[in-house]
Amino acid sequence: MPTDLNQKIYVAGHRGMVGSAIVRTLQSQGFTNIVTRSHAQLDLTNQAQVKAFFEQEKPAQVYLAAAKVGGIHANNTFPAEFIYQNLMMEANVIHQAFEAGVKKLLFLGSSCIYPKLAPQPMAENALLTGTLESTNEPYAIAKIAGIKLCESYNRQYGQSHGIDYRSVMPTNLYGPGDNYHPENSHVIPALIRRFHEAKVSNAPEVLIWGTGTPKREFLYVDDMAAASVFVMTLSKAIYEQQTETMQSHINVGFGNDVTIADLAKAIAKAIGYSGKIGFDTSKPDGAPRKWMDSTRINRLGWQAKVDLEAGLKEAYSDFLKTHTDVLAGKTS
Ligand SMILES: NC(=O)c1ccc[n+]([C@@H]2O[C@H](COP(=O)([O-])OP(=O)(O)OC[C@H]3O[C@@H](n4cnc5c(N)ncnc54)[C@H](OP(=O)(O)O)[C@@H]3O)[C@@H](O)[C@H]2O)c1
Repeated sequence: MPTDLNQKIYVAGHRGMVGSAIVRTLQSQGFTNIVTRSHAQLDLTNQAQVKAFFEQEKPAQVYLAAAKVGGIHANNTFPAEFIYQNLMMEANVIHQAFEAGVKKLLFLGSSCIYPKLAPQPMAENALLTGTLESTNEPYAIAKIAGIKLCESYNRQYGQSHGIDYRSVMPTNLYGPGDNYHPENSHVIPALIRRFHEAKVSNAPEVLIWGTGTPKREFLYVDDMAAASVFVMTLSKAIYEQQTETMQSHINVGFGNDVTIADLAKAIAKAIGYSGKIGFDTSKPDGAPRKWMDSTRINRLGWQAKVDLEAGLKEAYSDFLKTHTDVLAGKTS
């Protein structure tokens, strides 16, 4: 069946890094009827507001990319906000979408759903096989609940109401629209900011926490958005062939990982920082490796396109456009 480019699609979280990339991707593929609301217009933790929104708009599809997101520091400092807000957003959006007759929904989770000691690379069937990383456990529990909400609605109403709610689990993402907050950001935006500040102030050295040996995987956000639209567009028969009723999520990774030391070198190169890169080995390293098994999505026919060098170049160019305060030498 040809794709209906006029169907109404609601992208929740369209001002965020992932949501804005999903909107860009949908527009570039010719979708013309995209509905959005900012956080100020629609608080997704508010059940009455979400109900009224879905009753009014009745979209055909929903991409759920709104979430309360942050790094280790934010997760550790605000655990109650992370679990409460994420659970509320997912429960409200998924339930009210169902009530309004939405047939297709895509929920965005995260690789932190997998146990701390999951075998590497982490495959979909590692879910709920062990203890989670304690620093972001509340957030991870909320994300696992999101997968289980989709699965439970499919199990109870899939046949009777023809609904088809799916989930994707991205690895670490970066790119335009990232959060460059000095304390609450992920590793790539944090290092972009630090290397940029070091370049501007002619600092002789940038010190990286830990030994630099842990390996991590990074995916450019437009690749993630393309994967999201790809998964949403797969036929039900193919999706069901490749997933299980109670293990229906699909990993989305780049395919391989890099050491933090190599990442730091790549960022320094993208920024044009020529000073020294040092390692503060008195600081903890975290897990030696966190790498997603993307066999399932690769087998379905999707592959990441943007390599780290090209992605970092785009990310830095976006940082320069959007962070004039840092450019001017202020560190707010
Ligand atoms: N970034 C990553 O590396 C990464 C990795 C794996 C998975 N993911 C997943 O991808 C999804 C999107 O992440 P992101 O990086 O795009 O996050 P983001 O940039 O922080 O965007 C999240 C969006 O959700 C909105 N939002 C938050 N609370 C809301 C509420 N109560 N009502 C309405 N809107 C609300 C935010 O609006 P305000 O800013 O106005 O609050 C923001 O626009 C999340 O589910 C996340 O778990 C991200």
